[in-house]
Order: sequence, then structure tokens, then C-alpha cells
Amino acid sequence: MILVTGGAGFIGANFVLDWLTQSDEAIINLDALTYAGNLQNLASLQGNTRHTFIRGNIGDVNLVASLLNKYEPRAVINFAAESHVDRSIHGPEDFIQTNIVGTFRLLEAVRAYWSGLSNEARQGLRFLHVSTDEVYGSLAKGEPAFSETRRYEPNSPYSASKAASDHLVRAYHHTYGLPVLTTNCSNNYGPYHFPEKLIPLMIVNALAGKPLPVYGDGQQIRDWLYVKDHCSAIRRVLEAGRVGEVYNIGGCNEKPNIEIVHAVCALLDELCPRPDGRSYRGQIAHVADRSGHDRRYAIDASKIEHELGWKPAETFETGIRKTVQWYLDNQSWVSNVQSGAYRAWVEKNYQGRV
Ligand code: NAD
Ligand code: DAU
Repeated sequence: MILVTGGAGFIGANFVLDWLTQSDEAIINLDALTYAGNLQNLASLQGNTRHTFIRGNIGDVNLVASLLNKYEPRAVINFAAESHVDRSIHGPEDFIQTNIVGTFRLLEAVRAYWSGLSNEARQGLRFLHVSTDEVYGSLAKGEPAFSETRRYEPNSPYSASKAASDHLVRAYHHTYGLPVLTTNCSNNYGPYHFPEKLIPLMIVNALAGKPLPVYGDGQQIRDWLYVKDHCSAIRRVLEAGRVGEVYNIGGCNEKPNIEIVHAVCALLDELCPRPDGRSYRGQIAHVADRSGHDRRYAIDASKIEHELGWKPAETFETGIRKTVQWYLDNQSWVSNVQSGAYRAWVEKNYQGRV
């Protein structure tokens, strides 16, 4: 079996759901259920004996050690993180605690477990760390996309904390020989994306008749990847990636934010027209820019393509249509997230449990 951390969040939940349809192996899912963790993302797994959910913190060394010793996973995939750049600007502390200290403690627990394994099992274990393209900083127009050898230049407390975690993972391989893999991926979108991030926020605000807040001139560029393609890339790296290596993952899909918002509006105009017949574009409102806002990210994904034969299955056009349709079909998920109902349930369910 494998141990996944952060598997109740956006990418982690998509990964767990996909894994259980693609593989016979069971999953232990360790997640602290912060505001971003939502067990409703995993509701379809109720009764599935191959999925075991544990509420807990990656920084809890004793808990992680007991899970490793009990379940003896062949791999640990670390999705758990504080992930929202704007939140990191307003309050960096949680990012330091989870992304740096938490990853460090997780590495320590895995190292202790791995040290006690037989030679064969030691060689077979993998620690796969899921990271971001934001560690490389911001690109100027016309500059080549980020390759794996690009210098780290993180600009936000979020990206600095992820950069620190990447360095720790690298050091645990270099110093102790821990068999690690690191992936640095571009912006994901798709089902279960928390509506604080650009694409889901635009969809839910549009449908609620609220303004669509575009930071600054909206010309910042991101490289968008459908979340299921990120999951397939991680499965492939786990399967065949070379130990100690870094793999960049991206959609080859650079777009300015304003184009993303226009694309969302056009799809909503088609699939769920406003009662007054006007376009959702009329709700766009340019607002003050994010502090230290990175201008452009772009991923050079040629290494994972040439070495491991991975390519995204979705284009932006197919992926964004699926995404908008998913939000239209799952409005109760959105209202539970917005009302906080999913958190009230978590408190009720977990209060007093060990
Ligand atoms: P998310 O915020 O949606 O989910 C994070 C999950 O981690 C939540 O379920 C949360 O409860 C859990 N968590 C937080 N702190 C924890 C802790 N201390 N212990 C255990 N669980 C904890 O994030 P996401 O967008 O799904 O991102 C997952 C990973 O992928 C992160 O490491 C992020 O840096 C990375 N990443 C995200 C993107 C993206 O576009 N969203 C792109 C590249 C890389
Ligand atoms: O690049 C990978 C990263 O992508 C991940 O590591 C992060 O975890 C993930 O949150 C994401 O970071 P971004 O900052 O790029 O994503 P976000 O959705 O917050 O913003 C995308 C772009 O849209 C960014 O340029 C800021 C802009 N934006 C965002 C919001 C929430 C707006 O213009 N208006 C908004 O309301």
C-alpha cells in the first residue's frame, strides 16, 4: 500500500480517487483537515476498504511513525501543505509550520522507518514530494520556460516555504540516501478546487452574481494543467522516476489571467446563461494587485516527456469545459464549502476522538 498526505485537499483527493480506480493497491490517507481539507471530496469512497482515512498532522512524528510501522507502505506521497499564496501574504506562520517544519518531521519519521527496513525494502521505498513551479520565481516575457536546473528564486512566503521543503527533501537524499523524488508542477484546475483560487472563484462568483476580481491588469501568465493530468504524472514518476531526480510537470498551456476569466465567462454564457441574457463578462472588476505578484510562470516538461513518456491528456479547452460543468453539477459541494458546513461536520465527527 501507499501513504498519501493531504489527500482530502484538491489535488490529493483527485489523486486518491484516481489511484483507487487505476491500481489494486490500498491507500492510507493522512490529512489534518485544515480549512482546505474536505472529506466530502472523498464521499464516493465510503465503504471502500482500500481507503483508510486518518485525521492527523504530518508534523506529528509519533503518529506518522505508528502509521508507517503498522501499514508498512512502499511509498509516501506528500501533498500536505498550506497552498494559497494570498493567505501566505496575510499570515505566513502556518506555511512555515506545515510546509517547512511539517515536511522536515515527515522526512524524519520516514527516515527512521526506512533505516529499519531490510536492504531490499530500503531500495524499494519511495518518498515523493509534490511541489510547485513557484519555487523558480517569475519569468520575463520571452524567457525560456522553467527547466529542472533553473535557479530557485521564490518570491512569496508560500513559494519560499515550498522551496525550503524541496531543499530538505534533496538533502535527505544526498546526506542519508533516502530514496526521494520531487515533482514541481504548474497551476492545476479541475473538480474539488477550493473556491479561493482563481478558476473556481470566478465560477462561483459569476453564478452568485458577484464581481469577478481580477488582480491588477490581469496580464499575469500561468501554465494551466488539468488536475487529473497532474495525478497521472505523479503516478508515472512514482512508477519509473529515477531516485533523487526532480521532474517538472506542466500543461504547455500559458495563458494570461484575463483570458482564463473570459474563457470561464464564455462557457457559463453557453451552459448557464444569465437570466437577463447579458454576458458574465460584465461582472469582471479589476482590483488592486497582489503584493509581489509573479508575472509569469511556464514549465518546460520535456524531461518527464522524454524520460518517462508522460504527456497531458487534456487540452485547456477540454479541461476547462469539464471543470465548469463539474461546478454546475455540484452546486451543493460549493454551498457546503461556502457555508462551512463541511467543517462543522468534521468537528462533530472528530471531536474527542483519538
Ligand atoms: P489544498 O490546500 O487544496 O490541500 C492541502 C491539503 O493538505 C488539505 O487537505 C489540508 O487539510 C492538508 N494539510 C494542510 N496542512 C496539513 C498538515 N500539517 N498535516 C496534514 N495535512 C495537512 O492544496 P492543493 O492545491 O491540493 O495542493 C497539494 C500540493 O500540491 C501542495 O503541496 C501544493 O504546494 C502542491 N501544488 C499545488 C498546485 C495547485 O495548482 N493547486 C500546483 C503545484 C503544486
Ligand atoms: O503555480 C502553481 C501554484 O498555483 C501552486 O503552487 C499554488 O498552490 C496554487 O494556489 C497556484 O498559485 P497561484 O497564485 O498561481 O494561484 P491563484 O489561483 O491564487 O491565482 C492564479 C492567478 O490569478 C494569479 O496570477 C493571481 C490571480 N488572481 C487570483 C485570485 C484568487 C486574480 O486575479 N484574482 C483572484 O481573485
